[in-house]
Amino acid sequence: MVEARITVNGQDAPISPATPHTTVLDFLRDRGLTGTKEGCAEGECGACSVLVARPGVNKPTDWVAVNACLVPVAALDGQEIVTAEGLATPGEPGTAPTLHPVQEEMAVRGGSQCGYCTPGFICSMASEYYRPDRCAHGGADADHADPEHGPNGFDLHSLSGNLCRCTGYRPIRDAAFAVGEPAEDDPFAQRRDQEPPAPVATAYTQDGSTFLRPGTLGEALRVLRERPDAVLVSGSTDYGVEVNIRSRRAGCVVAIDRLPELRELRVESDHIEIGAAMTLTEIERRLDGEVPLLAELFPQFASRLIRNSATLGGNLGTGSPIGDSPPVLLALEASLVLADADGERVVPLAEYFTGYRQSVRRPDELIRAVRIPLPLSRVTAFHKIAKRRFDDISSVAVAFALDVEDGVVRKARIGLGGVAATPIRALATEAALEGEPWTAETVEAAARALRSEGTPMDDHRASALYRSAMLGQSLKKLYAQTTEAVSS
Ligand code: FES
Ligand code: FES
Repeated sequence: MVEARITVNGQDAPISPATPHTTVLDFLRDRGLTGTKEGCAEGECGACSVLVARPGVNKPTDWVAVNACLVPVAALDGQEIVTAEGLATPGEPGTAPTLHPVQEEMAVRGGSQCGYCTPGFICSMASEYYRPDRCAHGGADADHADPEHGPNGFDLHSLSGNLCRCTGYRPIRDAAFAVGEPAEDDPFAQRRDQEPPAPVATAYTQDGSTFLRPGTLGEALRVLRERPDAVLVSGSTDYGVEVNIRSRRAGCVVAIDRLPELRELRVESDHIEIGAAMTLTEIERRLDGEVPLLAELFPQFASRLIRNSATLGGNLGTGSPIGDSPPVLLALEASLVLADADGERVVPLAEYFTGYRQSVRRPDELIRAVRIPLPLSRVTAFHKIAKRRFDDISSVAVAFALDVEDGVVRKARIGLGGVAATPIRALATEAALEGEPWTAETVEAAARALRSEGTPMDDHRASALYRSAMLGQSLKKLYAQTTEAVSS
């Protein structure tokens, strides 16, 4: 096995002596690249944002912004990253570097005061600056602007994972909406037309821990059979928090995020199959609204920085009762394809969770893909009740998928999160709706049933009473939102 190495701002560097649990953030700072900051160490502030060259959606390579505080540097063996320092063009000795266009706009528009958050904002902005379809309307189209998109196509959601405590967001938004198109000779723009670094099989051991990136799915499944204690990671957005905040140090970490079998998206005649290790951003861009319920979920799932690394496999694999994707996937009647060294089995998601953070998945199995049956129900909605609109954990989440024909509810599927030890289907409410006319009276009766679903608890996010009340309100909101759509 060759030595683990990484390319940082164009310079090749050995990963050693970092440990398998050293984050990209600590690795960079230890090398003197202190522009990358630590604010929270749990993926919520974006001060640590850096750019990674990843397989692109519309070009061979995308510059993807990720939280350096969550990713083990060993996971980037053979990969290329760029920090805020690397975006500027170095000047001649004794002269200042030439700022990158996003740095220039942030500077001239007053987007930085103390500067702690600024390098992270710069990297998130640069990722959006280089998004190939950002300038789909020619780069200057006021007709397609809205409060969350600039006339330059800049999507403010790309900054939803970056917090600033002193400047205020208006100058930062001004800077984002002022950037133009990359110049033709921009080296980062040109890099998008070349292939991204290929995944590298990695076996990196230090301090009694091993980071493994198996080269094939078969090898990964053999490792899982031999090492039932292994922790599987894709984007490491969950495990990275465990490492930083709870000092967790697994003896064996197995990365599966680049295995081709886990990264396919296929639309068949009767289902859509989504690879468990595709990032949420990749799914969002590849589906492009084809599954409206997923399209509604994605902007509410953490932040763009997290969605650039997080996967459906990870969100289901952790088994959290407050994960955002399970209610949606339950409403969509999704199934999981579980693989082990002997083959595969398909498990309906409704039968997957068995208890708090427990599931039917055995330690020697991994989630290879998520299958969503077709056709899709037409009346769908995802209501996430949280204290903040973006980048927050839900107090309660509800996903609806209803078939309403001739004014009658033919089928109802409702997924709930945050009201039990596991994500659940609202079976009593579904029964109260099916076969009934889609009327305010039916909704009132079904809302009573919905308020009684699950066993909500009091905790620091919300009281049990509030959670129950929100369930009932959610159905009424759906009725108010969709009555027009159903009757039209
Ligand atoms: Fe806050 Fe990484 S340090 S997101
Ligand atoms: Fe101080 Fe943003 S400039 S936190």
